[in-house]
Amino acid sequence: MSFLEVKHVAKRYVVGSFMQKKVIFEAVSDVSLSLNTGKCLGLIGESGSGKSTLGRMILGVERPSSGSITVDGTELYGTKKIPSAIRREIQVVFQDCYGAVNPRMTAKQIIAEPLRNFQKLTKVEEQAYINELLSMVGLQEEYGEKRPSELSGGQLQRINIARAIALKPRLIILDEPISALDAIIQVEILHLLKQLKEKLHLSYIFISHDLQAVSYLADQIAVMHKGKIIEQVTRVEELTEHQSKKLLQARLPTLF
Ligand SMILES: Nc1ncnc2c1ncn2[C@@H]1O[C@H](COP(=O)(O)OP(=O)(O)O)[C@@H](O)[C@H]1O
Ligand SMILES: [Mg+2]
Repeated sequence: MSFLEVKHVAKRYVVGSFMQKKVIFEAVSDVSLSLNTGKCLGLIGESGSGKSTLGRMILGVERPSSGSITVDGTELYGTKKIPSAIRREIQVVFQDCYGAVNPRMTAKQIIAEPLRNFQKLTKVEEQAYINELLSMVGLQEEYGEKRPSELSGGQLQRINIARAIALKPRLIILDEPISALDAIIQVEILHLLKQLKEKLHLSYIFISHDLQAVSYLADQIAVMHKGKIIEQVTRVEELTEHQSKKLLQARLPTLF
């Protein structure tokens, strides 16, 4: 059994009512996938295809309408509240690095937040660990004192990555983590993510519409279209479905 198993997962939203009947929209339909430790699944698909919704269900913040998600064999939504031992195994990095943090906190406090919720460290231990995390994401110690407004997008995304790895998770959901960054910074962050994946044996779900980035980081690729996975391959070049090809064509100039 794989570390992560998603089986026949669907998410339906009530989006309105018509003649006293609920109008339901299915954002994710019958999705199944599995992911092993240390591997990266690239999740691609046009905007609105259900990628983030699927990501939130795997993250543990949105209960599926049906289907099952298991992490290390344990049903994620098997109990009313997800056990903290499982919750800490899955972390997230979002596209909007500024929106993901409290603007009043220093970088150090941002990184320390999950530690304080889950782990009891002394002040000295916490400080040493934060410095270690800063170094792992390629930032010098003094960046720990800065607030989000004093950091560039790339630097703040490194802080978000440091926070995501602080609890030594097994899986990180990367929801378009580089989409808002300049091209050169995108490459730097991709390198960092790859390096951390190898060093920490992390699994990733890398949501992106940049096929070049996906081919760099992903070991397997799933294409979503209208809530469904329409194709799963191991390399971008193997994509065959019409919708996948459309995505591919849209990106051809940057791919080659
Ligand atoms: N809470 C919600 N209520 C109603 N519709 C939603 C909700 N969340 C997402 N959706 C809809 O589900 C679809 C998939 O959204 P999303 O998962 O964000 O797609 P993607 O990340 O691929 O762009 C979209 O049409 C979106 O409007
Ligand atoms: Mg999204």
